[in-house]
Amino acid sequence: MDLQLAGKVVVITGGASGIGLVAARTFAAEGARLVLGDVNEGALASVAAELGAVGQRVDVRASAQCVALIERAVAEFGRVDVLVNSAGVGGIPRLVLESDPEDGDWDAMLDVNLRGTMHCCRAVAERMAAQRSGRIVNLASEAGKLNEKRIVVYGATKGGVIAFTKGLAIELGRFGVTVNAVCPGVTRTPMTSYITDAMEREWSRFYPLGRLGRPEDIAPMIAFLASAQASWITGQAISVNGGFGRS
Ligand SMILES: NC(=O)c1ccc[n+]([C@@H]2O[C@H](COP(=O)([O-])OP(=O)(O)OC[C@H]3O[C@@H](n4cnc5c(N)ncnc54)[C@H](O)[C@@H]3O)[C@@H](O)[C@H]2O)c1
Repeated sequence: MDLQLAGKVVVITGGASGIGLVAARTFAAEGARLVLGDVNEGALASVAAELGAVGQRVDVRASAQCVALIERAVAEFGRVDVLVNSAGVGGIPRLVLESDPEDGDWDAMLDVNLRGTMHCCRAVAERMAAQRSGRIVNLASEAGKLNEKRIVVYGATKGGVIAFTKGLAIELGRFGVTVNAVCPGVTRTPMTSYITDAMEREWSRFYPLGRLGRPEDIAPMIAFLASAQASWITGQAISVNGGFGRS
């Protein structure tokens, strides 16, 4: 199947690591033109060099920086066809009863995961509406649907991403712009580097396919949702989770 991504201008936040990085490699292999945004400048520079991509430091917590990221893509390539919001933070795994709303951890998750995604969607929406085409793919999480103890606040931010995705899809549908969320189960990336092989074996009993995810399991769904073949899919929160939860 030809995804028809060759030449498309694809902006990926969080593109320097994990799922965003493997998504970037997937789009690059399809011949897309890439603009990668990340707060980690060192990793961003090496990934941009590897892929021949434009790299721009962005902190998605600041809406003006999200606007600047989209403007950079337009300055380089004249348009934006695809926005992938993969920038995210996992927070400290702990019970809500043990958490402190004032210590910054809740703020970090809300500001990066939810507000950051909203900022970037807002920054690109008018341009995509004006060109009457576009694809937005937001990284939510299975936790945004089912949630789980010790990641309740994280899951709440991802539930917010799903709700924002569904609502924005309604608003942008008349412009031919699709907005979808991908909901990974637990995936081994730098964000989940605390997971050992022994922990994976233990947790795998909850996964019918018998293992946790890898970024390579998630990236193909991102690319598909960004493709011409996904033109009648919008407002969806699609799980890629090895069968966990079956939500
Ligand atoms: N790994 C998992 O188990 C899992 C499961 C479900 C959903 N997700 C989501 O997938 C996305 C990617 O996660 P990952 O596992 O690849 O994590 P990761 O830590 O490997 O990558 C996240 C990237 O986001 C960047 N980032 C963090 N804060 C930022 C900010 N303020 N501005 C710009 N960039 C910022 C980081 O520098 C990093 O490069 C996240 O939204 C995450 O919540 C991950």
